[in-house]
Amino acid sequence: MIQMVPIDTIADDAVEQLLDRAFGRDRHSRTAYRLREGTQAITGLSFALVEDDALLGSIQCWPVQVDGDDGSVWPLVLVGPVAIVPERQQEGLGRRLMEAALAAAEGSPPLTLIGDPEYYGRFFGFDAAPTALWRLPGPVERRRLLARGANVPALPGVLGPRRHALA
Ligand SMILES: CC(C)(COP(=O)(O)OP(=O)(O)OC[C@H]1O[C@@H](n2cnc3c(N)ncnc32)[C@H](O)[C@@H]1OP(=O)(O)O)[C@@H](O)C(=O)NCCC(=O)NCCS
Repeated sequence: MIQMVPIDTIADDAVEQLLDRAFGRDRHSRTAYRLREGTQAITGLSFALVEDDALLGSIQCWPVQVDGDDGSVWPLVLVGPVAIVPERQQEGLGRRLMEAALAAAEGSPPLTLIGDPEYYGRFFGFDAAPTALWRLPGPVERRRLLARGANVPALPGVLGPRRHALA
């Protein structure tokens, strides 16, 4: 039986191996990794799917913020990576993880992620329009910088880690 568990019940090494398989070992150079530097995954928003002893998938969420050019500070939650082991993709497991994180994030700051709009827009209501004026600490395809929620700060500013945030 497939079970969803808090990700901190899974060994770090197992999660890292899963992410290497889903994204490749060069994944650490991605801009998304700059966004979470110095922070810890948010415990209540990060999950794993396991079947017997096998890890099938994971989702992690991180505290980030937009520092507006006008001096305002806007906390957000960075969603991802979302990863399913290659041999179990297309079975609805990614959707299950996303839905769990979205439900747990009710009442949290708005969500952002870097990912395919064809997936995250179509199924989960993420949109690139409100992020158009954000600057990031690395290259990003603008169409893949997505956000979701009523209070996304659609203003000029810098998206970066929310250090010292409570995990
Ligand atoms: C992307 C990923 C998390 C989706 O999880 P999954 O369990 O395979 O997907 P689900 O079974 O929940 O959903 C399947 C649907 O999503 C669609 N889909 C999956 N990845 C997609 C993508 N990158 N772009 C567009 N659609 C996508 C499938 O076509 C399918 O649509 P259908 O129902 O119309 O056939 C998983 O495939 C994965 O780990 N991929 C490699 C890592 C990755 O790219 N992660 C996302 C970036 S953070």
